Amino acid sequence: MIIISGASRGIGKFLLDSFHQRSEELVIGTFYNTKPIENIQMYIEMDVCNIEQINNFIHERIFELKEITLINCAGITYNSFTHKSDPEKWRKVIETNLFGTYNFIRALLPLMREQKFGRIINFSSVTAIKPTLGISSYAASKSALWGLSKSIAIENAVFNITINNINLGYSELGMIEMVPDEFKKNIIAQIPAGILCEPKDILNTIDYLRSTRYITGSSIDLSGGLI
Ligand SMILES: NC(=O)c1ccc[n+]([C@@H]2O[C@H](COP(=O)([O-])OP(=O)(O)OC[C@H]3O[C@@H](n4cnc5c(N)ncnc54)[C@H](OP(=O)(O)O)[C@@H]3O)[C@@H](O)[C@H]2O)c1
Repeated sequence: MIIISGASRGIGKFLLDSFHQRSEELVIGTFYNTKPIENIQMYIEMDVCNIEQINNFIHERIFELKEITLINCAGITYNSFTHKSDPEKWRKVIETNLFGTYNFIRALLPLMREQKFGRIINFSSVTAIKPTLGISSYAASKSALWGLSKSIAIENAVFNITINNINLGYSELGMIEMVPDEFKKNIIAQIPAGILCEPKDILNTIDYLRSTRYITGSSIDLSGGLI
């Protein structure tokens, strides 16, 4: 089965719809502020920062949770130069992107270890390595996923559990909608491939990472050559 955090919009929603259309296995997505209008039966409401909500979900659905792939898509960003930033907003990005990912992984790992199977895929970003103005909290949260994953990978490799990150460049979906057109043109001009990441490339990468137990602790650039 597949669990996708942050599936109410953007990339997470695309993934949920794509897996659902294949109809191969059970897919559950989370929403938080954006209530889904279609496929509502596939969703649960959850704040990834709330450990109790995650535990309740696991407790209520325990009999469905088998051969789990967890895709951590939930994420936020905050644009501000660091010297002008609001500490609460800065902290919230770390809480959502790093702690939210950790919370979900931590809660599911005991089941995965018991079942000797698990695939965990996190959404990191090229901005973790490519200096980008005004997003210090986002960059910090995304690079932190690499260290988190390396450690979790070796703790669990013997249980056929893998954990990897997709260092996404700029996707056609999701957060890019907040970027004004003139900035978008500038972004595309910097991408060696000359285009934003197409949704199918994200899906292909996830299929690939799910297909093997021998890639773990990795962070794969999916950025059209942008670094
Ligand atoms: N799009 C890109 O170009 C790009 C590039 C690099 C990395 N990424 C990463 O890829 C992931 C998906 O990005 P996206 O562009 O699809 O983002 P998006 O369109 O902004 O969607 C973000 C999702 O995260 C959910 N979310 C936010 N806070 C949450 C919380 N506390 N608890 C549970 N869910 C929460 C949102 O749910 P609600 O709306 O229901 O609150 C929404 O479903 C993110 O981690 C992002 O950092 C994206």
